[in-house]
Amino acid sequence: MPSIVLVGAQWGDEGKGKVVDLLSEKADIVVRFQGGANAGHTLVVGGKRIVLHLIPSGILHRGKICLIGDGVVIDPEELLKEIEFLSEQGYLDDPSRLLISQKAHLVMPYHKLFDALRESRRKKPIGTTRRGIGPAYEDKVARLGIRMGDLLEEDALKEKVEALLQEKNLILERVFGELPLEAEKLYTLLLEYGKKLRPFICDTSHFLYQKLREGKRVLFEGAQGTLLDVDHGTYPFVTSCNTVSANACCGSGIGPKQIDLVLGVVKAYMTRVGEGPFPTELRDSIGEFLREKGNEYGATTGRPRRCGWFDAVAVRYALRINGADGVILTKLDTLSGLEKLKICVAYELKGKRIGEFPASAELLSRCVPIYEELPGWKEDLKGKHSLEELPAEARRYLERLNELLQVPFFLISTGPEREDVIYLRDPFTFFSDKRQL
Ligand code: GDP
Ligand code: IMO
Ligand code: MG
Repeated sequence: MPSIVLVGAQWGDEGKGKVVDLLSEKADIVVRFQGGANAGHTLVVGGKRIVLHLIPSGILHRGKICLIGDGVVIDPEELLKEIEFLSEQGYLDDPSRLLISQKAHLVMPYHKLFDALRESRRKKPIGTTRRGIGPAYEDKVARLGIRMGDLLEEDALKEKVEALLQEKNLILERVFGELPLEAEKLYTLLLEYGKKLRPFICDTSHFLYQKLREGKRVLFEGAQGTLLDVDHGTYPFVTSCNTVSANACCGSGIGPKQIDLVLGVVKAYMTRVGEGPFPTELRDSIGEFLREKGNEYGATTGRPRRCGWFDAVAVRYALRINGADGVILTKLDTLSGLEKLKICVAYELKGKRIGEFPASAELLSRCVPIYEELPGWKEDLKGKHSLEELPAEARRYLERLNELLQVPFFLISTGPEREDVIYLRDPFTFFSDKRQL
């Protein structure tokens, strides 16, 4: 019963969607376990680009079950849009392929309002996606949340909405000077969502438990990236939940012993959307080259992504926090055409060389990268399916990353399409090899 957790090991947008889509062919169930519609996971199949925000990236494969777990915060409006789009495109022919946890919390209209109002008032904005993620997780922890299962208990829901709005409206009016929301209107909207989503809502944790016992293959799809984790990322410039592999358990209602393999998805260079320290950021023509060649524009907000050289200190830290068994490297092709490549191998902080990622964003912002330089290559990597076909310089770059990260590489992605990939190890059989040792 191999179960594999895939998480981003940078600041998000590592190409998780593409990789999950690719690996879904061999999986039975694909699970999202945290985050919300702040995620934007891009799949390119047969030249067609599809961006998913909430539904797991296995949905394009017929017969695969896609599950939105307990730890996700769901904006029903976004989810319904996605369901409608996928149904129209013929990908969601069988609604029983989508399961949604009854325990997952809802992103309410006021969460999105608070997110946007707070951002515009902050002296130092975080650069959130304004999808209401922070306020929704706050309410979950404050025990003020509405969960998917609540949508199906209509009388109790009415009372909850009325009670909640009393407080939310006070904040809207007195803190932000905005107009209050009408309880009746919101209640009617939620009833409508409940009607439409009822067929999908169930006990996903129990479903997973049974399927794992039957020996089904489960792929857990992380959203965001480790450096955006609320505890382990560059706080406060982070998202509002744990993005690390350990949260695959809490966020889907399984135990840690049910995870067999953890893989970090890593881009061949660094990007970041939103604010926060980024030691290897390139604010020059090379950064511009990476943004244009790699099409580094936010899949959710369309914002230009900040780009920079590969940071081995940050990625090694991220792999450690996740207990990663290996790496899936993406976007190697974007580097084609650069004469020289740099890899950050350590930082200089207050005159000292350090190899560990600092805990404080303030300290990280003062770190100066120490680089190693490697030769680049010109050739396009499209259509290369083995390491041997790669230019010697690209192989050298991979070898150096591999030495620095100290875990095996499983796949190298060389383009946005499913077939743009070099297979090195099969995550599903690696699991059985490991067990035999
Ligand atoms: P995610 O959030 O981790 O799923 O990543 P995004 O979808 O936000 O951003 C990754 C972008 O890179 C998307 O536009 C993908 O289509 C694209 N992509 C993924 N892998 C590769 C690759 O190996 N090469 C290139 N050129 N593009 C890729
Ligand atoms: P995927 O899954 C990249 C960033 C935002 C902001 C910070 C907090 O596509 O990799 P939030 O809206 O979560 O409160 O914003 O986190 N962020 C992401 N950056 N990829 C993502 O998701 C992100 N989700 C949130 O830009 O800096
Ligand atoms: Mg993304």
